[in-house]
Amino acid sequence: MNNGKQNLFKLGAAYYPDYISKQKTLTRKVGSGKIEWLAEKERLQEDFKRMVQQGIHTIRMGEFSWATVEPTPGVWQPEVFLDALELAQQHKIEVIFCTPTATPPKWLIDAHPDILPITRTGQRIPFGSRRHYDFHHPVYQAESRRITELFAKTFGHHPAVSSWQTDNEFGCHNSVFLYTENAKKAFRLWLKKRYNGEIESLNDSWFTCFWSQHYRSFDEIELPFASWADQNPHLELDFRRFSNEALCSFQREQIEIIKKHSPQRPVTHNLMTLFTDLCPWQASEDLDFIGFDHYQMESEPHPTTSAWQFALMRSTKQKPFMVLEQQPLQVNWQPTNRRFSFDWLLLWGMQSAFQGANGMLYFSWQRMPGGCEQYHDGVVPHDVRIAQSQQEKLIIAKNKIFAEIGKTFGFGDCLPLAERDVLCIYNSESLWSHEITAQSVTYSTRKQIDHITQFCTRYGYGLWFAPTLAAAKDDLAQYKLIVLPGYAFELSDEEKTSLLNFRKKGGRVLSLPRTGYKQPNNKLSPMPSVFYAPEDFYLEDYGAMLDTEIETCELTDSSAGSNMLGQLWAEKIKLTSEAWNTEAVFSAKSIYAGSPAIIKRKETAHHGAHVHLATCPVPSKEGLGIIRKLLNLPYVAKAHATDLQLQTLRVGSRIFLAGVHFGYSDASIQLDPSKRVLNGLQMRLSRELSAEITPLSAGEQSLLQIPARSIVFAELGH
Ligand code: GAL
Repeated sequence: MNNGKQNLFKLGAAYYPDYISKQKTLTRKVGSGKIEWLAEKERLQEDFKRMVQQGIHTIRMGEFSWATVEPTPGVWQPEVFLDALELAQQHKIEVIFCTPTATPPKWLIDAHPDILPITRTGQRIPFGSRRHYDFHHPVYQAESRRITELFAKTFGHHPAVSSWQTDNEFGCHNSVFLYTENAKKAFRLWLKKRYNGEIESLNDSWFTCFWSQHYRSFDEIELPFASWADQNPHLELDFRRFSNEALCSFQREQIEIIKKHSPQRPVTHNLMTLFTDLCPWQASEDLDFIGFDHYQMESEPHPTTSAWQFALMRSTKQKPFMVLEQQPLQVNWQPTNRRFSFDWLLLWGMQSAFQGANGMLYFSWQRMPGGCEQYHDGVVPHDVRIAQSQQEKLIIAKNKIFAEIGKTFGFGDCLPLAERDVLCIYNSESLWSHEITAQSVTYSTRKQIDHITQFCTRYGYGLWFAPTLAAAKDDLAQYKLIVLPGYAFELSDEEKTSLLNFRKKGGRVLSLPRTGYKQPNNKLSPMPSVFYAPEDFYLEDYGAMLDTEIETCELTDSSAGSNMLGQLWAEKIKLTSEAWNTEAVFSAKSIYAGSPAIIKRKETAHHGAHVHLATCPVPSKEGLGIIRKLLNLPYVAKAHATDLQLQTLRVGSRIFLAGVHFGYSDASIQLDPSKRVLNGLQMRLSRELSAEITPLSAGEQSLLQIPARSIVFAELGH
């Protein structure tokens, strides 16, 4: 009876039986078209019938359900969820069940008001919204263990429960850094351990001679509340480290309890990387698979930001992840929550799949009649007269497309993963270090990562991330290029050696400004930007650029292309050995006129390349082309439009090219002359939002025409 359900890319939604319970809801009856007031159980039945009709594979539930399941201390009312689980099983729908700790109930807050968190400005967050808890509070930690155990024991054996999610979006609403008494106590203990009980070692590390901040004991240390001028940046960095560790240990306790009482169910969390407060590597360490919530902050969606966030999620566990929440399409938390055209849902779905997602759940099943998210989109609309919503049509279209891809290319239940071309360092401590002593509101390492992503999606390079070079050292040889995108900290001797060995085997390295400036305690290094030997070069000066400022980098060999433009940050490099060549210089108008803007390591015959940019490249077609040429990096295809994203995927010796065209005009893809299409599909939505799938003609042509807002997937051969 499942209409089009497939396993290649699991589709689903967040589902809230707790919002339906004890209410009569007006519902259109599936199939019959009748509109009726239904009681709870009938409403659940209608929902499940409707899910089957669309080919829904998975639902997620329970994350805000504490007060429904335990309305008063010790009173246990799990029935509505047990009913939903029964229906899920009957309809062969998998359930990801969540622990409910993101919304502690009123009775718990009333009994322990100091569970409520305190912000950097000293404001106590009141009851009435969500994430209103202090994870440092021993009472809340005990309550979290208690409710997790009750949930795991009550729901965790049900055959419909396929996996678990901890809490909901750790860190959302700025909730990683808490300024409570319990946070302070725990921070002091954490510091005592970190500095081996030696307060002078902390004083030295934190440079407390500055502004008379000397501490006599760990008990004198305060949290970095908002202050007149900036707080101590070394304390700030330690506080971020501490807060992340504490949050992860809060999560770990839940995971251990789930594993004990609901065995064989993998555990995930819906991570968010719209903000940098939470370290995705640390937060994912104890998880079995990664969940990701995909939302757009910009009023105009920014597909490159989505691409690198997806790649980061795939990289954390080196395997497919699941989009646990997808905005479908309007949200309620932007200054203006604009409407979007419906084809975004198809393009984002395909983009996430090509970047390693194995499924996508919409947030949420239903457009809520009440609550602060009442205008937020859902699969089922407010107006019960609508028999099939646009979102439902999209789910059906996506199911059809994935079924066709699976059949045409013989994929079982997963798509191939991205080729391992580029490894980029994404390190939270490095991001925090640059954020804490920012020096510029426009510079950010994530902006650099965004530009590197544009480089990758232009040529179809598979982009992967690692937290440090040291963490990736055994795997480096798989990649063609390593990118250090303003990685803050000095490279260790071990890392320098692995870079050298990587190049000796033909690997390429691209480093951007602001790399290697800092020590782990957030002090500036006495020898910034040393990649190999301190004798190679030094930085005479460096600093931020205004957002209106552009540097022109003039290539010393003009045949290599036109000039590269730079932005955000600039370094005045003084070469002091023969090890590097100058490939471009800052133009005569620059503050750094004539000094090297691009340098490249001189290589012996079998060495790869290391290119260092003294300014952040503007990601134009020309700029990206110059970088590719200097790195001498081969490609299988090139996109002739910036909003056409290419991705090379590989399984064994089979190579695939996936393209998602976000642009509104037709575009083309230039294949490398040695490659041709063996078999391919072109996909888009019709006006009526059904899937239009056409085979791509196999053969010799090396220029593929790609219509606006369409998708292409092809197997390539020689
Ligand atoms: C997410 C959250 C959901 C819902 C959604 C609205 O951040 O996890 O519960 O609030 O935002 O866009």
